[in-house]
Amino acid sequence: MQARLLNTAPEKAEADALILPIFEGQSVPAEAVALDKKLKGAITQLLADDEFRGKFMELVPLHNLGNAPSKWTVLLGLGKPAELDLVRLRNALQAAGRVLRKRGHRRVTVILPKAVTATAGADDIARAATEGIGLSNFDAGSLKTRPEQAVTEIDALSIIGLNGEKSAAAAVKDGLVLAEATNRIRGWVNAPANAFTPTVFVEKVKEAVKGTGLDLKVLEVDDMRRLKMGALLAVARGSDEPAKMIVIRYGGGRKSGPTLALVGKGITFDSGGISIKPALNMEMMKSDMGGGAAVVGAMLAIAQLKPKINVIGIVPTTENMPSGKAIKPGDVVTGSGGKTIEIINTDAEGRLILSDGITYAVNEGATHIVDIATLTGSIARTLGPLAIGAFGNNPPLMDLVRRSAELAGERLWELPTWADYDGLIDSEIADIKNATVPWAGATTAALFLREFVDGRPWVHLDIAGSAWQDAAELKTVPRGPTGSGVRVMAHLAQLLADQ
Ligand code: BES
Ligand code: MN
Ligand code: ZN
Repeated sequence: MQARLLNTAPEKAEADALILPIFEGQSVPAEAVALDKKLKGAITQLLADDEFRGKFMELVPLHNLGNAPSKWTVLLGLGKPAELDLVRLRNALQAAGRVLRKRGHRRVTVILPKAVTATAGADDIARAATEGIGLSNFDAGSLKTRPEQAVTEIDALSIIGLNGEKSAAAAVKDGLVLAEATNRIRGWVNAPANAFTPTVFVEKVKEAVKGTGLDLKVLEVDDMRRLKMGALLAVARGSDEPAKMIVIRYGGGRKSGPTLALVGKGITFDSGGISIKPALNMEMMKSDMGGGAAVVGAMLAIAQLKPKINVIGIVPTTENMPSGKAIKPGDVVTGSGGKTIEIINTDAEGRLILSDGITYAVNEGATHIVDIATLTGSIARTLGPLAIGAFGNNPPLMDLVRRSAELAGERLWELPTWADYDGLIDSEIADIKNATVPWAGATTAALFLREFVDGRPWVHLDIAGSAWQDAAELKTVPRGPTGSGVRVMAHLAQLLADQ
């Protein structure tokens, strides 16, 4: 997709579709009065007849019947002005974009009236609008032998209402990069586990990093043995697919400068192992590599945005399967950091593989560590599919992560790791255990990971809810794989570099 700011009046703009966002209770925005006139007052009429009320994500397409250079005008409801933020603006445009491209519209112009641009900074609005439309281009694809309809993409986006804001043009470019990196990995998260094994994951990453300047290294099982990655190897034991560890390096900073490590969970299928999961919804566990994919997406974006900092992306990847070789509850394994771990539940596998990934980051000299994982059902029950759960040991880094999420247009909420919870991961027989009481599950997982960060500034992002939107009740977020975390981590690299 191409994207640009356009300095043309809406009634003169040429596009397949003009998107005109309108708040609830608002009349025709001043910016669209001339367009409305050309359309013989059709917009005014729809509003007067309450056939369009501006409810959030309401969509009414209007054929321009040759009365304007653009073919269609699409009214898009933004809901109550006080409730609009950059997350909702992105989502509304993403939803609208999806409808438009399915109708075959390829050239789309978004009109941003003052009422909208006044709600945030020009750069943030420009990025949000570009990302909204860019993200709408994601197509889950289909493995049906007879696809229902040809898939079109929006290939040209123009944004009216932000010209004169110099930095907004740069924000449009960034938004394009971020949306495309996000879309790239959304397809991976959606892929069936038989078509996306750890080996395939590595192949996809190899293709993706070609020509980006990123450095890719893949650790094989022999390397893991040499490095004594007993936790990752323990999870991999039950699977016939060899485990891998993907290591991607971006060197944008001074040698002696900070190194941000991004560590992502790459479980290509989580059956639970011997502590096997119930059959209901188990098919969703093909998406248990969402954190690992997000790390790759962030690295792809970082390679293009070029922040002045060193970043290392680490993705341990394996299946979690039951078999005669699989680890069993009660087993004790030793991770690469030397800690002994009692396995209480083989379904708490993500924290095991991440622990070896985090230790690798520490040994590589990471000064800041962010891990990201579809880690706990607990966070999905707490926040639903709407938000990332965040945990940390360093308030300044947490502040940067929170700011990154705002820039990214992703909801993120911090949860506690108070010392009162210490003891939850104490084991009778080993240094720590991987599962415990049936409550505070997301915090327990965070406490476990914290054991491996060597006291360095660290934030853990639990995306078990946000990686996949499937609640039919939530009409305000597009369904399917979201690419949660990609943009947050890319912005974080930038903010850390600017510090
Ligand atoms: N991959 C799951 C978490 C998950 C659940 C992701 C639902 C997406 C949707 C993770 O490996 C897991 O099984 N966690 C267990 C941990 C428990 C056994 C301590 C959980 O949260 O139930
Ligand atoms: Mn599990
Ligand atoms: Zn899992």
